[in-house]
Amino acid sequence: MNFYQTVEGINKISFGDMIPTETILQKRFVKTDSFMVPGVIQKSEKRFTWKLDLNDDDVIYGLGQNVRGMNKRGFVYESFCSDDPNHTPDKKSLYGAHNFFVVLSDKPWGIYIDFAGKVTFDIGFEHKDVLKIEVEGIDFDAYVFTGTYKQIVNQFRSLIGQSYVPPKWGFGYQQSRWSYVDQEEVLSIADKFDEHDLPCDAIYLDIDYMERFKDFTVSEERFPAFQSFVTDMKSREIKLIPIIDAGVKIESGYDVYEEGVKNDYFCNDASGHPFVAAVWPGKVHFPDFFNSQVRKWFGQKYHHLLNMGIEGFWNDMNEPAIFYSEQGLKDAISFVNSQAGKNLDIYTFFDLKDKILNISNSEVDYKSMYHNYDGVKVNHYDVHNLFGYFMTRAAAEGFEDYAPDKRHFMITRASHIGMAKHSGIWTGDNHSWWEHLKLNIQMMPGLGMAGFLYSGADTGGFGGEASGELLTRWLQFSIFTPLLRNHSALGTRKQEPWMFETETLDRIRDVVKMRYALIPYLYSEFMKANFNHELLFAPLSYEYDDLRSKQVEDQLLLGDSLMLAPVYEQNSRGRSVYLPEKMVLWKVTAFEHLNEEAFELMEEGYHFVDVALNEIPLYLKPGKLVVLTKPENRVSNLDESNLVVVGYVPNKAIYELYNDDGLTKGYKSGDSLKTMLKVDRHKNEYQISVDTNDMALKSITFYLIDDNGKWHVIKQNAIMDESHYV
Ligand code: GLC
Repeated sequence: MNFYQTVEGINKISFGDMIPTETILQKRFVKTDSFMVPGVIQKSEKRFTWKLDLNDDDVIYGLGQNVRGMNKRGFVYESFCSDDPNHTPDKKSLYGAHNFFVVLSDKPWGIYIDFAGKVTFDIGFEHKDVLKIEVEGIDFDAYVFTGTYKQIVNQFRSLIGQSYVPPKWGFGYQQSRWSYVDQEEVLSIADKFDEHDLPCDAIYLDIDYMERFKDFTVSEERFPAFQSFVTDMKSREIKLIPIIDAGVKIESGYDVYEEGVKNDYFCNDASGHPFVAAVWPGKVHFPDFFNSQVRKWFGQKYHHLLNMGIEGFWNDMNEPAIFYSEQGLKDAISFVNSQAGKNLDIYTFFDLKDKILNISNSEVDYKSMYHNYDGVKVNHYDVHNLFGYFMTRAAAEGFEDYAPDKRHFMITRASHIGMAKHSGIWTGDNHSWWEHLKLNIQMMPGLGMAGFLYSGADTGGFGGEASGELLTRWLQFSIFTPLLRNHSALGTRKQEPWMFETETLDRIRDVVKMRYALIPYLYSEFMKANFNHELLFAPLSYEYDDLRSKQVEDQLLLGDSLMLAPVYEQNSRGRSVYLPEKMVLWKVTAFEHLNEEAFELMEEGYHFVDVALNEIPLYLKPGKLVVLTKPENRVSNLDESNLVVVGYVPNKAIYELYNDDGLTKGYKSGDSLKTMLKVDRHKNEYQISVDTNDMALKSITFYLIDDNGKWHVIKQNAIMDESHYV
């Protein structure tokens, strides 16, 4: 074991010589004397087991994308990127591998396990007072953090670096479906958004836009003039976002396949031949993204679509998903054949059934595939969790080569900590189940802890059938998630807003418009969470240290000023809410309906709050402000020079509004617009000051609620001067 430390006191323990994961900015660590490692560590030939004590009241947050509640205590979780469309509570892993958690104890602590293979976390399951980490390998690094919950998140996130920032249009509403099959259909979807006065900034192209599911091709039959189509859509301010899958179709004459074979760019089997799997295109090879030359080659392939005007992508099936491997299928068929005509006993029958049912994503297949990790041969199973990360890294590096200062849109399915600097994520193939709306709510803080600030779920649910009520309630939550995408699977009920009754469509219009109204606040909080290594979505105990806050599982803090308590149950017209302090409830129906009656002062403690189907309940924290603007149907049309501020201000409030050009990476070198809003209440009068370097800012209308629940409307017509901004 080797011991390291940063000046901030973050401890790192190196167990052996780990395979690099590219997650931590190593340079900040210096070697130090050994220190006390918490808990008990046992090493066997092939694995490490680390046991740590838990106290009765400890609450555990983290593990990013996984099943179950915000407090992870009481179950066993795995980090092993999995292509599994049934996110039921008995599952142990989803698409991401996020080995970071925080234990909220009297003296909070946190651990990150930096390891590319499978890790299991038994969090008080086998024994209620023991947290057991099992690492399937003996070479890994562990980081141990102490401080408050907020400080630990801050330390960890500062180690993994700044997160991916999408272009600002990525904060708009996005419509997807597997699939809008041709140009006419995509066009008619765009037209419907405009006809129905619904905001929309992007439409996704799922696998059917390609020619026989071949990456970087476009079907000439279904999209005969792709480039001009992309341009036409862009002139309407609608971006098209094509999918790219991990598997490359085996087809002679197909350039990506031919080049890959010629240059030995694909993952191999044990005998050194390209590994054969099957995904959407039928038989495929997987590019070996562990090899930097391959990443460079694959990254350049995106240029073909970028040249046609495309500005963003979604990378999919990159766990990697394997429907079957050539060998796996052969073995299963020969087993089935060997049983033909026999009088099967029940156990052999179950074996036979399992052989077929377990053919996809099998451990045997993952163990039969090899990478050339920049010269070193590694078995896929040992580095499984990095595959999707490195595919997306290839894309991000390709974008960087193409236009270094431009922000490209990128979301991906499989992920690992460290990937957050390259891309956002969507949370994969959920269902149109109310339970998955709740899972979406509960997963957001963990994703942020792992650095995935730009994230969101398939709103309305991917599999299964969504009702109008489910879609409405889901949107009432998703309008706060940075990625806001409605996506649904082939064969399910169509989920575009106009597929429901007029009443539902009208409600959805108000909800989505409210998203656009909130963009000044959401974008500002997103960027600040990124710069300051903070959470955008947080459990209440991120800010409040009372015991009750620790128990709340279905409310979230959103940035500095808001608390959310979404409705996530069928037919519910209200819910219980815990307020850790006095707040103002704002029942939003539509941006235009901003009136005094919509606000209600609420005391600290428990409440039952009625929430009609057209209401979005927002809780305003005291002394904080929310900045909005009049909604438009595209992000680029938002008027950010005339703003609206809403706040509950008993005495004083300060808010720094962040903005920038939304398109370039200038934000990295401080190219930004900042506006400092200060409100003071003196002798029943509000005094307001606005300092800004945003020369375009013209007016701000303040709606301030005082401690008697009375509101005050003050319009500030300011001429602002750069020199005022400090
Ligand atoms: C995967 C993706 C899903 C997509 C489908 C077809 O299941 O997770 O979003 O629609 O593949 O490409």
